[in-house]
Parts: sequence; C-alpha cells; structure tokens
Amino acid sequence: MRTPIFLFLRSAEQSRVRPMNESSNPPENIVLIGFMGCGKTTVGRELQQRLGYPLVDMDQVIEQRAGKAITEIFADEGETAFRDMETALLRELHDPTAPRRIISTGGGVVGRKENRSLLKDLGYVVWLHAPAAVILERTAKNRSRPLLHTDDPAARIQSLMEERKPLYQETAHLKLDTAGLCSDEVATGILECARYFFTKHE
Ligand code: S3P
Repeated sequence: MRTPIFLFLRSAEQSRVRPMNESSNPPENIVLIGFMGCGKTTVGRELQQRLGYPLVDMDQVIEQRAGKAITEIFADEGETAFRDMETALLRELHDPTAPRRIISTGGGVVGRKENRSLLKDLGYVVWLHAPAAVILERTAKNRSRPLLHTDDPAARIQSLMEERKPLYQETAHLKLDTAGLCSDEVATGILECARYFFTKHE
C-alpha cells in the first residue's frame, strides 16, 4: 500500500536538517545527494519528467568526458583523479546563465569541503537516505561501484555511511527517508518541499 502523501510530507518536514537562510537567494536547481544505491538517479529522472528541467547526472557526465566507466577511471587514474573531476564539474555547474536543472551527484561528492560549499550554493539540496541493508541489496546487483569491490561490502557500506552521515547532514536542506517509498512518492515530497523553500527565498 502506498504511503498517504500527507504523512510523507509530515515526516519530510520533521527531518529537515538545515535551517533556511532567509537572506540568500539560491538558484532554483534541485540537487540530490546521498549514499550509493539510495535512488538519486531514479528520482532524478522522475523529477526531470515532472518538471521538464534537464537532468545532470554527474557520474554520467564524468564517464562521458573521460570516455570510460567509473570503475576504469578508479583503476587507471585513481580515486583522487575522479574526485578532481567531480569538483571541476561542480564548479562548472555554477553558471548563472544556465536553466534550472536537476542535479544528481555521486555518493562521495560530499567528502570535500569545497564540494559541500559548492553544492549548498547550487540550489535546494535533498539528502536521500536508505538503511544499510537496503543499500547492500541494491548495490549487489551490479559491479559498477569500485569502492564496494571488497571482500566485505556490508562492512564497507557501514563504515562509509558512518563517515559520510555528518557530511550529508551538513550539506542538505532536506533529509528524506526513502525506505518503503516509490520514486513517484519521493519526487512528490521533494517538489512540495522545494516549492516551499523557493517561495521563502523569493
Ligand atoms: C561513489 C558513488 C558512485 C560513484 C563512484 C563513487 C561514492 O555514485 O560516484 O563510484 O564514493 O560513494 P553513486 O552514488 O551514483 O553510486
């Protein structure tokens, strides 16, 4: 059975993690952050369809530019090179002439302080959260995530989640627990909350 939307919105409001800065006027992008497998790409596509805004999937852009998959970038050039590509792309996204966009990020984008600050200035930042068990199940379906190529992916997920939790928290305007919700419901919740956020900043 689907979650009634009013219940969902109430839980979304309660878990809002960063107070709005009434004086700033952020660009009206919606930025999705969160751990690998939390649904950023799927929800990003849903938002793209509903709003008609272009979707920037950062991992995809990086792969297209590099001409290879993320696993190959990590293997050939190392993680630091990949992180540099992420930061460079985030800087480029700060283009005041660009149309409103949906921006879907890679799970580790919050690792650098500069990135966190760039993300916050890009628009409304939504942290999609799912429990470690759900993440493990979803990420086990393919081998596209080099950080999980280990003997014990469950332990890796647990430790990375612990490490990153405060960073997502610091960066997001809104935290959404997506467990039990379909992408359609998550997108509806984000749109309601984003509308409120941007109205407050007009
Ligand atoms: C990473 C997450 C991946 C991708 C890369 C590193 C991370 O993106 O950017 O494998 O550090 O968590 P998804 O979150 O889309 O899987």
